[in-house]
Amino acid sequence: MSEAALKYVQDQKETSLNELIEFLKIPSISTLPENKDDILSAANWLMDHLKAIGVENVQLIETAGHPSVYADWLHAEGQPTLLVYGHYDVQPVDPIELWDSAPFEPTLNGEDLVARGSSDDKGQIFAHVKATEALLKADGKLPINIKFLIEGEEEIGSQNLEPALEANKDLLQADVCVISDSNILTPDQPSIVYGLRGIIYTEIEVSGPSLDLHSGRYGGGVHNPLQAMCEIIAKLHDEDGRITIPGFYDKVRTISDAEKAEMTTLNSDETFLAETGAPATWGEEGYSTLERVGARATLEIHGIRGGFVGEGGKTVIPASVLAKVSMRLAPYQPAKEIAQMYKEYVESIAPDTVNVKVNILQTADPVLTERDHPSIKAAEIAYEKSFGKAPVFMLDGGSIPVVEAFQRLFGLPVVLMGFGLPDDRLHSPNEKFHLPNFYNGISCSIQFLDQLAKN
Ligand code: BES
Ligand code: MN
Ligand code: MN
Repeated sequence: MSEAALKYVQDQKETSLNELIEFLKIPSISTLPENKDDILSAANWLMDHLKAIGVENVQLIETAGHPSVYADWLHAEGQPTLLVYGHYDVQPVDPIELWDSAPFEPTLNGEDLVARGSSDDKGQIFAHVKATEALLKADGKLPINIKFLIEGEEEIGSQNLEPALEANKDLLQADVCVISDSNILTPDQPSIVYGLRGIIYTEIEVSGPSLDLHSGRYGGGVHNPLQAMCEIIAKLHDEDGRITIPGFYDKVRTISDAEKAEMTTLNSDETFLAETGAPATWGEEGYSTLERVGARATLEIHGIRGGFVGEGGKTVIPASVLAKVSMRLAPYQPAKEIAQMYKEYVESIAPDTVNVKVNILQTADPVLTERDHPSIKAAEIAYEKSFGKAPVFMLDGGSIPVVEAFQRLFGLPVVLMGFGLPDDRLHSPNEKFHLPNFYNGISCSIQFLDQLAKN
């Protein structure tokens, strides 16, 4: 083990933090067209930084959307190759008024660094960059070969990445992939995620009259599209919180008793409630909160646009309304198949007094990773040596679309080695990254590389 590299990390703490702050200042919001230049600035910043730390072949991989950044260091002959994946794009900041500091002016709050993208995913990916730097600076070499693939469209579903992966199959060839884009349980209790849910993101459009109508003159004569929308949405769950789409659960696996037991040790409803501030937990009957979030499929309504929501009152029947609806898929639920089932079901329950259109915007399949792969053992040891405790295993409810593609296209084992925390407020105002996790994450990455090296 390179003690020199670990010491380098300690000596460079302040510099690393300042560099991360620079990276976080770039508002690389992938979903907003007005931030397209910022996306390119973030990619360029990353490329310049990777060049500066001494990795090679630094280049952009173009896609039909935002580009990915690639770099490698391949001089550890006979040693395995690690692919480090992450994303430099971030979520939008709204509602901006709920931030205590400007989202792109990173601000220290005790041991936390508050900024959009701090935990998801710039801070986590930067831990691997700093680990690589420390090894190259302290030892002049890495114990294994490394490739970086840092993309710009994860937060919008990575829908353009797969063709780029296929086109760059040789360039991206590796023995194992590590992704730090999830969270551990607490700063002292690391965890390895062994399953992520899939996602289907959709829109439902309901329209009726050709123009907004006076509700006195026309109310009672036509089906209000907003009401029809609410009726459709209300039919998507039954009283037990189960999704009503026929066949929806057919391929969901039953979780083993061992997994169930393991889950009950991880988290309590009290911590869950404290984290969310919700007055009660809710969900599918017959499963614990952690099971529902990690191992069961769910359906959420994200927003409904339509009608009048300004101050005061306006007596209107809106001509059309739009709802954003997504589903999280449990392992083995095929996203494309379920998307079709959903579309047909929504169309079938739509009253014929209105027009209904269902758009499928994104799909990503759920994944399970191989828990007994040797690289998982390496991650366990790495966590223990850096965070001071062996990790537990958990399923996470979030989605990282590319994981399934790595498995299917490249047969690549994936290690989900997160450095975030459950209360990092991902996608929410005041997103933060716990800095002790950043520094331990750098050490963890160094230890991981060391463990992957064949002696
Ligand atoms: N890093 C998250 C996913 C995540 C969060 C995994 C917490 C494990 C724990 C990722 O950036 C994300 O937000 N993904 C999106 C994907 C979607 C836009 C296709 C998600 O899960 O909503
Ligand atoms: Mn992420
Ligand atoms: Mn995210």
